[in-house]
Amino acid sequence: MNEDRQSKTPFYSKLREYAESHTIPFDVPGHKMGRIENDMISYIGQEAYMLDSNAPIGLDTLSRPTGVIKEAERLMAEACLADKSYFLTNGTTIGIMAMIMATCKAKEKIILPRNVHKSVISGLILSGAMPIFIRPLIDPDLGIANNVTYEAVQEAILNHPDAKAIFLINPTYFGVCSDIERIVKLAHDHGMLVLVDEAHGAQFYFNERMPFTAMEASADISAMSFHKTAGSFTQSSVILTKGRRIDHVRLRSTLNMLQSTSPSALLMASLDVARKEMYFEGAKKIDILLNMAQDTRAKLKAIPGIKVIDKDYIVSRGGDDFDETKVVVKVSDMGITGFEVYKMLRKKYNIQLELGESHIILCVLTIGTKREDLDMLVDAFKDLSKKYYKIRNKLPKIKFDYQYPETYTRPRDAYHAPKISLPLEEAYDEISAESIMIYPPGIPLVIPGEIITQEVIDDILFYVKKGSVIHSELDNGFVKVIDKKNWMYWEGEDDAL
Ligand SMILES: Cc1ncc(COP(=O)(O)O)c(C=O)c1O
Repeated sequence: MNEDRQSKTPFYSKLREYAESHTIPFDVPGHKMGRIENDMISYIGQEAYMLDSNAPIGLDTLSRPTGVIKEAERLMAEACLADKSYFLTNGTTIGIMAMIMATCKAKEKIILPRNVHKSVISGLILSGAMPIFIRPLIDPDLGIANNVTYEAVQEAILNHPDAKAIFLINPTYFGVCSDIERIVKLAHDHGMLVLVDEAHGAQFYFNERMPFTAMEASADISAMSFHKTAGSFTQSSVILTKGRRIDHVRLRSTLNMLQSTSPSALLMASLDVARKEMYFEGAKKIDILLNMAQDTRAKLKAIPGIKVIDKDYIVSRGGDDFDETKVVVKVSDMGITGFEVYKMLRKKYNIQLELGESHIILCVLTIGTKREDLDMLVDAFKDLSKKYYKIRNKLPKIKFDYQYPETYTRPRDAYHAPKISLPLEEAYDEISAESIMIYPPGIPLVIPGEIITQEVIDDILFYVKKGSVIHSELDNGFVKVIDKKNWMYWEGEDDAL
């Protein structure tokens, strides 16, 4: 019976047993099960420290699990309808890097949306894979990048039939999903693997009203941040796999390259107990949450100057599905930016939002969210509306129709190439050695290996003028570009992997 199995917490139970065993610790960690003094021990208690053990006998090894970690991973896989799972203690960030490195060799092509998390660019550098970017749908009213369409993926596959893999985001930071089921089928029909970033989608696995999961869609591999939406500790994530296309030996050795050799037992135990809670209570609690989210959206919609995003809106803009545990609110019609609201809500109402962008704010709701929290949020927005709506002018739309620059070389080549830094205005026709991102919408305008066009320069200057936040490595108006004069590849002499 699944229920009997899922009621167990093999790793957490063994860890507690060890913590209570009065073992004399001559191993690390150095706090010796909380037997030292410091300010935090007196605040959080020795019990928390007692659970923070390394790898004593009986607690298994994350790098090659054969005991209680293996059993806990098996239960996680079963709960998420996957064939296999891997616990991660360095976040989905390394899950994504490992997925790409374990599936794409140097110079192999991977088709992916442009609005990917920065860990994907790291994965491209480490693997040496060649990115084939697809343009995501852009919502100029909200100032965000959303899903990729089935048709856009289809076109990329037709243009690049030799691609090794497709990479999808399910859902985006703002809760927007692509037609994952059809895209997986299409990719598999063309012999391509499907890798999914489910950093924001762990809760999808535990309630049928939530959007489709990567595993339901039979994607080959997914990395999900259990910590973001399913109740485990920060940095605890999971890789899920399905089917026979993933080389598990390669995946395991890649993970062992990237993960700490001292994985946190607290993080792994928190995954074990959060999985059990979600398995038994997730459906009911997420139902209650979705109803509360719906009520909250209705109350927010009645506030002048506030626009609330829901599934109908997302679908009308070409999205395939929407995670309704995300409360996305457009605030710029009140004449204030999301950045301002983010700060004001914290300072004046003691409310911490997930994110403020120029036009919108994002609240992440989970089974830990209380009705009174949502009431406070609504009251705060009523106050803001009274204070700013019709008093300030609406903020103008942001320009979002840029072309992506041409790829000259792979991100890995650019990473290893000699570099110089130039003032942005002088970087025309140079090859970027870094990612330059604009928030919003968080899409890299240029990534390592791409040619900096005049349009890229103009766009960056335009966004700076409009008050957007620029993320680049130098942050002083300079950009890092490849030093072509001293670059072997430029001379045609390098065939680096
Ligand atoms: C879309 C996306 N993917 C991946 C990650 C990385 O996840 P983690 O924080 O678990 O490393 C994030 C983090 O915010 C994200 O937003």
